[in-house]
Amino acid sequence: MRNEPLPPDVVAGSPAGRATLSSRAGALDGPRQEPGSLIDKYGRRVSYIRLSITDRCDFRCNYCMAEEMTFLPRAQVLTLEECLRVVSTFVELGVSKVRVTGGEPLLRHNVVWLLERIARLPGLRELVMTTNGSQLERFAPTLRAAGVGRINVSLDTLQPERFRQITRVGDLTKVLRGLDAAQAAGFDRVKINTVMIRKLNDDELMDLVDFAVGRGIDISFIEQMPLGDVGDARDNRFFSSDEALARLQTRHVLVPSAESSGGPARYWRIPGQQTRVGFISPHSHNFCDSCNRVRITARGELYPCLGSNDAVQLLPVLRAHPAEQQPLRAAIIDGMGIKARSHDFGSQMNSPQVVRFMSMTGG
Ligand code: 5AD
Ligand code: SF4
Repeated sequence: MRNEPLPPDVVAGSPAGRATLSSRAGALDGPRQEPGSLIDKYGRRVSYIRLSITDRCDFRCNYCMAEEMTFLPRAQVLTLEECLRVVSTFVELGVSKVRVTGGEPLLRHNVVWLLERIARLPGLRELVMTTNGSQLERFAPTLRAAGVGRINVSLDTLQPERFRQITRVGDLTKVLRGLDAAQAAGFDRVKINTVMIRKLNDDELMDLVDFAVGRGIDISFIEQMPLGDVGDARDNRFFSSDEALARLQTRHVLVPSAESSGGPARYWRIPGQQTRVGFISPHSHNFCDSCNRVRITARGELYPCLGSNDAVQLLPVLRAHPAEQQPLRAAIIDGMGIKARSHDFGSQMNSPQVVRFMSMTGG
């Protein structure tokens, strides 16, 4: 992997802390826009951004994508310089945690160029990444050296056949080798993310926990969200965190933990083990009250809420004002004004109101 500097997109040939109760208190007399901080109209402070750097992926997970996907033309995707400008502006406005995601972020040419520069931004505390693991064997040490602190690897099953069924095209052994490489690279934490799918992997949740315990890594179980039209792939497939927890408790003692990784997961610990077992439960335990994050798509749309179609278009602002920061800052601050109070995934499982695929918005 080459880490040479400018200009990454040309070289690559590539297309171009939780809000607290006290921060809510401000909402009573109308939240003020403090300089250097992003506060929405419900008093929640945004300190965490998730940036999708590509909508492309080498997998086609059936809950995430339709079988045939059309990806964005390159000119509509933020260049790496534009990504960096967006992130650095958010960091100037008080964001301290950045997750780089996709699609599959490691498919983006010269991703390391971007990561190295994000990691060095003054004020940034944490740079983390979500990946499907397919390229990790090759990338893990470079990512660590670039300054990525933690890494989440999506893994829904340990059975090769099933893995193929869920991802349509993926190779489990490659992902497992990627996980080995990530553990060897010495990230602060490595975590598995498992989307729970009834009748597809709900019988494997215990095996996945044992697998995580055996490796001393964390695991989070995610309730499926109705994002994008994936045909009938979601019908009757919803599996709740509570059901999962009840199952896991038949094998392990799970002690609730007050820990937070700054995201929406609620954690349990297994006494005597390093592994934390997390649940991300957008349906059963709505976490919108403490939402501290916004998302930026590969196309430069700022989505203040995963469950809403409201967005601010940053790409035209970036391109109209290449040398001026103020319009971009203003557009980002505008985005805070349209952050929804909460999502409503519960009533939408079979008729998604959010038309974007997860690969578009970034997990
Ligand atoms: N609901 C929940 N999680 C999803 N992911 C992708 N699509 C969905 C969905 N509809 C997950 C991926 C990955 C993370 C980025 O988001 O499996 O773990
Ligand atoms: Fe790719 Fe992740 Fe979507 Fe699977 S869930 S298709 S790995 S972006």
